[in-house]
Amino acid sequence: MDIRSQFPILNQTVYGKPLVYFDNAATTQKPQCVIDTLCNYYKSLNSNIHRGAHYLASQATEQYEQTRRKVKEFINARHSHEIVFTRGTTESINLVASSFSQRFISKGDEVVVSAMEHHSNIVPWQLACERQGATLRVIPFDDQGILDLDAFAALLNERTRIVAVTNVSNTLGTVNPIAEIIRIAHSREIPVLVDGAQAISHRKVDVQQLGCDFYCFSGHKMYGPMGVGVMYGREELLEQMPPYQGGGEMIKDVTFERTTYNELPFKFEAGTPAVGDVLGLGTAIDFISQIGIGTIAATEKELTDYATGQLQQIEGLRIYGTAPDKTSVISFLIGNAHPYDVGTLLDKLGIAVRTGHHCTQPIMDRYGIPGTVRASFAVYNTRDEVDTICAAIRRIAPMLQ
Ligand code: ALA
Repeated sequence: MDIRSQFPILNQTVYGKPLVYFDNAATTQKPQCVIDTLCNYYKSLNSNIHRGAHYLASQATEQYEQTRRKVKEFINARHSHEIVFTRGTTESINLVASSFSQRFISKGDEVVVSAMEHHSNIVPWQLACERQGATLRVIPFDDQGILDLDAFAALLNERTRIVAVTNVSNTLGTVNPIAEIIRIAHSREIPVLVDGAQAISHRKVDVQQLGCDFYCFSGHKMYGPMGVGVMYGREELLEQMPPYQGGGEMIKDVTFERTTYNELPFKFEAGTPAVGDVLGLGTAIDFISQIGIGTIAATEKELTDYATGQLQQIEGLRIYGTAPDKTSVISFLIGNAHPYDVGTLLDKLGIAVRTGHHCTQPIMDRYGIPGTVRASFAVYNTRDEVDTICAAIRRIAPMLQ
């Protein structure tokens, strides 16, 4: 079946124009199969997992745990219990920053992040550093949006406790050399957390091959539902880390004197999870697997190269993020126009882009700009849509000077 026709939301007009959805780095749209999984869960399966001694509860539990195994296969984790379901990348990183730092970070220690991190891979570490009396160190990047690996290696020392870096920049599209970063950090026995939010639906992720210690991603950026995500963590580290939240499911025994905690992964899954959304994430993985992540990557690269070529021909348009290895994100500015004005005018022509700092203010500070307009593509986008945005930019450019 044709890929695009599986996304009912794309077949509509906004302000009387056919919708061109280029805000996929913020969230992808959902195929009918994922929508069906959500509906069917609430129509015929809804019940709380791991608890009830009844048919629906045991069916829901089985499917939830089956999805955990599916995620394990998808990212090639060693064990299913290394897969923790969360609300999304942000919660996954907060979980690690909070729990890892309590166990492993003390006064005078250091945490390394990069200058192209999303705020969700900066602020949780700032909070952790504040609590533990540690210092945040930052890997710089160059004008093209490429991390400086020599500067990175020079930042590491005997007080560095963890490196937290994004696999792909949500603003610049840069695919970072994660394997090399992990190799350098591990040569000094420093663990690495990878923010995979912008990589997971574009590139093959194999956590064993990468050797990363934590890998975090969201369902909603990979054709799955909102409100669900994954924190992969290496068993050896997760075993040593304290729980993130207290509540039901994460305990073995509770008395007022002492509580003992459940085994992995349940120690990190307090309370009722978003069961239907987890099942929807499983269907999204099936959807990606059926197309093939290699086919998705190739389709998006072809479209991104085409779009880059077309946009570069527009007078006064500047692209931010020109690393040779990029995913399907193009950030740009036109002349002196404010990105918000560009986004508003494009919206009126039916084109959805994101404008602003994209939750990466340090990137904007690095370039001395207030923000960018960001077009980001998914597997269902077309050359015709790229032609539409280019024509729209040419049309609105004179209004912006
Ligand atoms: N982090 C998402 C983005 O970059 C919301 O758009």
